[in-house]
Amino acid sequence: MSDNTEKLDLASPDLVNENFQKLAQLFPNCVTESAEGKAIDFDLLKQELSHAVVEGNKERYRLEWPGKKEAIVTANLPTTKTLRPVREDSVDFDTTQNLYIEGDNLEVLKLLQESYLGKIKMIYIDPPYNTGKDFVYKDNFAQDSEEYKEDSGQKDELKRRLVQNADVSGRYHSDWLTMMYPRLKLARNLLNNNGVLFASIDDHEAHNLKKLLDDVFGENNFIADLVVVSNLKGRNDKKYIATANERLLMYVKTDEFQEYGLSLPEEKLSDYKEEDDIGKYRLIELRKRGGPDTRAERPNMFYSFYVNPENGNVSLEKDELHKIEALPIKSDGVEGRWRWGKDTAKLRINSLFGRQVQGTDKYNIYEKDYLEQEGSLKRIKPKSVMAGASYSTDGATKKYRQIMGEIDFTNPKSVDFLSDLVEYTCAPDENAIVLDFFSGSGTTAHSVLELNSKDNGNRSFIMVQIPEEIDESDKAFKKGFKTIPQLGKERIRRAGKKIKEETGAEIDYGFRVYRLDDSNMQDVYYRPQDYKQESLELFADNVKPNRTPDDLLAQVMLDWGLPLSLKIEQTTVSGKKLFKVADNSLHACFDNGIDEAFAKEIANEAPLRIVFRDSGFKNDTAKTNVKQLLKQLSPETEMKVI
Ligand SMILES: C[S@@+](CC[C@H](N)C(=O)[O-])C[C@H]1O[C@@H](n2cnc3c(N)ncnc32)[C@H](O)[C@@H]1O
Repeated sequence: MSDNTEKLDLASPDLVNENFQKLAQLFPNCVTESAEGKAIDFDLLKQELSHAVVEGNKERYRLEWPGKKEAIVTANLPTTKTLRPVREDSVDFDTTQNLYIEGDNLEVLKLLQESYLGKIKMIYIDPPYNTGKDFVYKDNFAQDSEEYKEDSGQKDELKRRLVQNADVSGRYHSDWLTMMYPRLKLARNLLNNNGVLFASIDDHEAHNLKKLLDDVFGENNFIADLVVVSNLKGRNDKKYIATANERLLMYVKTDEFQEYGLSLPEEKLSDYKEEDDIGKYRLIELRKRGGPDTRAERPNMFYSFYVNPENGNVSLEKDELHKIEALPIKSDGVEGRWRWGKDTAKLRINSLFGRQVQGTDKYNIYEKDYLEQEGSLKRIKPKSVMAGASYSTDGATKKYRQIMGEIDFTNPKSVDFLSDLVEYTCAPDENAIVLDFFSGSGTTAHSVLELNSKDNGNRSFIMVQIPEEIDESDKAFKKGFKTIPQLGKERIRRAGKKIKEETGAEIDYGFRVYRLDDSNMQDVYYRPQDYKQESLELFADNVKPNRTPDDLLAQVMLDWGLPLSLKIEQTTVSGKKLFKVADNSLHACFDNGIDEAFAKEIANEAPLRIVFRDSGFKNDTAKTNVKQLLKQLSPETEMKVI
């Protein structure tokens, strides 16, 4: 028998909590978040109870929360982590330009700082919305080096750090802001001056994200707060309002931002039904409709055109052919005005067309809006409300399922929505890089592939995704996918395969996988001062024993600021394995026994950079000689050791 009897709680009420609630009810503006949790801002409360301005901390207009300074420290702290290539999970590892990186995006963004500084054209993020159920990664800015040493502890560390941020937590907004702030700061560095960031968000944090991005990008670089209709019917999830949309914040890095507009949707093409010697066009009335649309408001924009009734040609002068006057008169007889001033009309007179208004003797003037302009199809501006069946959550899930079936993922974004953002921002031949550092199921990668297949583009992507575990109760888990990166990579593989089958497009379907890990180097490499001379000698080799030449190459590329997408070739020179990165940009040999003969062979190829292992030389003399020989025979070559 179930027992519904209410139990006595046998504890006195928490009066402090009750008092807090009473004050919060009276003075909601005085409720804030402090380092310890929810708190009352006593300075503000004092002010509410005083007739005069109460002296106190200097007021400033800014976004602040407990943890902001910590977040700045977090962003600026260097990392000794590295990225290790995972060839077996990659597709076309040696040649592809696309990257899939598994790991916490904070560390990954730090590692990309040199190689991708100013190189990214578009960043799209769809971070946890902080719904009260989301997992938010807690950075540990005071992480000590002991933890770096922990090789096997990574999984546990992830569990410890990826914690549910409940909306009843006293640091609910603060923890989310502390997580986002350093990531956005680092991300902005990666953007090109003509680049843009788009961030999806909903009501939980839209206001804070807007302020945060104002802080990171500068208020003047805010472009739009777009409405993205995710469910036209509205979800019955809220008490009073059925949610039908999400938000998309758009910020540019500088006013050098370059966009390419969107191609006309199919259904709009049929509007271009007229045709002349120049091509297909549609007619748009030249009379201004709406806003300040009367002669009284814009007297300069009220003037006469003269139409040739034989062919509709228009002139600003009356003559034998152009004899019918046309004026911008509204249907109610009020004098309106044209959209163009007389100067523009003079310049573009050939694109105007006059036509008799049916059933009257009046003539109307139209602008011929051509479908093709300067050799390419007309493009349009995206609207501030973005809607369409394929943009909806249902449409997005349907498209996701077409390739992933029952390997479910909650609310993937719409491929069409993202391809539109990419199309708008990245021209097909621009070699633009698109970065998504909350990549989830990999929708952004899918979109880049799909768009490239349509216009033969060569845009590439960088996806970053933490190895968050998939819940055991999820269908995806039952299908064998234990982590989100496993699912994301599979989605990109399948999407590529499907697009290739369907379109036959010859684009880059591959992606290179890297996994975040602690450094390849022993701790002694970074802090030799902490080791006694005797123990230093024990470290004959400063590379950790389980690291491969591939691992070392990735670290060297990052350290030297080379993009990870560069072509990598492997050859053998004098019996040693030699990596050639982007032909002669970087050569690397991590084998032992490097000597003078090998140096001579390398010098023939005159690489710009060459790297060896410090312990890889035959002996100390060989090390000195190799350096000397390279200096003489290939003075352009910069040599380093690790
Ligand atoms: C809302 S989902 C993105 C969904 C994605 N747009 C899609 O269409 O599939 C956010 C993702 O960010 C990931 N994430 C959260 N914190 C992260 C972190 N610190 N580093 C990298 N990824 C993280 C989560 O695991 C989750 O997969």
